Amino acid sequence: MEITNVMEYEKIAKEKLPKMVYDYYASGAEDQWTLQENRNAFSRILFRPRILIDVSKIDVSTTVLGFNISMPIMVAPTAMQKMAHPDGELATARATSAAGTIMTLSSWATCSVEEVASTGPGIRFFQLYVYKDRNVVRQLVKRAEEAGFKAIALTVDTPRLGRRESDIKNRFALPRGLTLKNFEGLDLGKIDKTNDSGLASYVAGQVDQSLSWKDIKWLQSITSLPILVKGVITAEDARIAVEYGAAGIIVSNHGARQLDYVPATIMALEEVVKAVEGRLPVFLDGGVRRGTDVFKALALGASGVFVGRPSLFSLAADGEAGVRKMLQMLRDEFELTMALSGCRSLREISRNHIKTDWDIPHCLPAKL
Ligand code: FNR
Repeated sequence: MEITNVMEYEKIAKEKLPKMVYDYYASGAEDQWTLQENRNAFSRILFRPRILIDVSKIDVSTTVLGFNISMPIMVAPTAMQKMAHPDGELATARATSAAGTIMTLSSWATCSVEEVASTGPGIRFFQLYVYKDRNVVRQLVKRAEEAGFKAIALTVDTPRLGRRESDIKNRFALPRGLTLKNFEGLDLGKIDKTNDSGLASYVAGQVDQSLSWKDIKWLQSITSLPILVKGVITAEDARIAVEYGAAGIIVSNHGARQLDYVPATIMALEEVVKAVEGRLPVFLDGGVRRGTDVFKALALGASGVFVGRPSLFSLAADGEAGVRKMLQMLRDEFELTMALSGCRSLREISRNHIKTDWDIPHCLPAKL
């Protein structure tokens, strides 16, 4: 059957993938309240479209950290993509470059930074988990830099792994033959079966729980790449990120896989945007599945969005072609949303093009 929207890839992926893999990709933490809320919250934002505007030409291109990209839709870092498809991150890299946008490679990729770079030109960011052994981090950041990655997305919401119960039940471990390629030579590439989620045990052993704001300064001392802070969802932290010289903020709740009962990212976005006062770009990920979602995020002040699970599920369903089609569908839907809202460029998308259920009083007729 023809695929006509991004969400349809999930069903195909579920049929194709081993249960342990599908569950790892799909699940959220604990009650998965935030997982549902990441989607539901988008449906509480409605449009206020403007009419009779010449929309015969629409430009969806934009600039991120000075790089020109084809659209404000980018690929979030998701770990272990060879579990989805034998080409793994290489397919995602090719598809993302072909779409003219940015891929973020996970620290826990099953292809190395060098292998991904070898797929050809493309603007790529590297997502960093800070390990207890800072020499490991130093080497990894240097390798990413040398491989031509353009920014570091520092994940700050994972001092410990969130409790994903299906991974515990499935005793999640990396399938035989796969490794966390970036760490292979450092003897940290394996995720073994344990009496728990293998990944949770790995994180407890390797990831630095003492990570704090001062480490942003440390990171700046070992790299000249711009640093995006991924995982900010409050105004307070947004202000500190500005103070510490972050190049940008990604409003993210890690696809609802860390702390359950945090708000949907689309609900947290506006407070972060307001706190930042235009001093740096703010991006969003979490639950973006439609072009309308992209428009809503931009109307609330985001400079762009990232998609996580859609890239995994489209990769599982159809490899590189799947990821290409997923990005194309989002782009087409977004462009259509712009046309039907009367916006010809991203600059024209404004807060007045939407109303949310949290500004209802604002929407009531003046007399009430
Ligand atoms: C992730 N995410 C993630 N984030 C990160 O910083 N490093 C990582 O290695 C991973 N790995 C990962 C694996 C899987 C299976 C998922 C679903 C997510 C989080 C990711 O970057 C992003 O924040 C969310 O996926 C965005 O939400 P959606 O688009 O999946 O709803």
